[in-house]
Amino acid sequence: MTIRHFGTLSLLATLLGAAELPNLVMPQNNLNFRQIEGYEDYKVVASHYRTDKKEIRYILANPIAYKALKEKTTPMPEGSVVVKIGWNAKPMPSYPDALEAENIQRIEYMLKDSKRFNQNGDHWGYARFVKKGDRYETWTGDTAECVACHAIVPQNDYLFTTLQPLH
Ligand code: HEC
Repeated sequence: MTIRHFGTLSLLATLLGAAELPNLVMPQNNLNFRQIEGYEDYKVVASHYRTDKKEIRYILANPIAYKALKEKTTPMPEGSVVVKIGWNAKPMPSYPDALEAENIQRIEYMLKDSKRFNQNGDHWGYARFVKKGDRYETWTGDTAECVACHAIVPQNDYLFTTLQPLH
């Protein structure tokens, strides 16, 4: 009975497109992939292209981070989340001079939580989940790398992203 009930619930969740994120945890800082459940509804605030990795990136912000980016509030408030999705780019079959996103390579995020994080005074926690086929795995590198590279931009609260103009 219970199993059947759960089966119905997960079928309903799938039909509604509310698939759960995998329960993956960053070993160094305990950040879970599920922290960003619902990120598909965050606002896209910028798109980037990495020429060396040939990847299209979308940057998304949760409502707290979006408001702060819009109002240029730094440091960003507690609870701000900024997500980055990276895709490899491939020529569009219908028009090969145009590139389109193919497969997600990884999803990563930064969470502002000054009680839990304070490397370099940045107060961001860093998490990365790598896509292998149709599954995700926790990235096995050292988050000190994230902190060190984002330390290039302390004047923008350790974010490279600025709000991409839409008009
Ligand atoms: C060697 C430099 C470097 C390292 C290491 C690095 N980043 Fe970044 N990160 C960047 C750059 C450059 C951008 C902006 C360009 C882009 O979108 O790729 C960025 C963008 C981001 C963004 C979007 C917000 C912003 O700052 O623009 C997030 C989220 C992010 N990185 C998370 C991470 C996480 C998590 C790690 C570690 C697992 C990490 N980064 C490691 C250079 C780095």
